[in-house]
Amino acid sequence: MKELEEALLPFKEKRNMTIPALQIAQEKLGYLPREAIEDVAQTLGLPPGEVYEVVTFYAQFRLKPIGKNIITVCRGTACHVGGSSGILKELERILGIYAGETDEKREFTLLTVACFGACARAPITVTETLGLPGRKVHGYMTKMKARDLIEEIKQKMAEEAAEAA
Ligand code: FES
Repeated sequence: MKELEEALLPFKEKRNMTIPALQIAQEKLGYLPREAIEDVAQTLGLPPGEVYEVVTFYAQFRLKPIGKNIITVCRGTACHVGGSSGILKELERILGIYAGETDEKREFTLLTVACFGACARAPITVTETLGLPGRKVHGYMTKMKARDLIEEIKQKMAEEAAEAA
């Protein structure tokens, strides 16, 4: 939380900067626990309830912990026609969680989106890693590619863990 307090310093008493301050907090923690919302409110000089209202209004903000890797399957029409429901089922099977859930080790969170805006490459799956900037968009996804993708991420995590040991 100390790191968060430092990151929020530029927002001191800037009451109109609620969204950027919350984005920074979420980037640091992966989600917005009550303490983070209170920190943001205190920094901005706003009542915590007002900041909480902003958090619950925007879909980009998360109140629950999230996995290190976020896998988002597009469920829009083009992706649905391209087989996204089978891809989602396969990912649910491999990861042992349903869409909207995070696994116990907080390694993976599986999400869905209505349309990612890249229909020409449907079906789309998007991956992002907490703490790293940007997202990777995987087009023309198949069940087999989804399996390979998860394998690749698991391998990378194992390599990182070995390096850190
Ligand atoms: S429907 Fe999936 S990107 Fe548009």
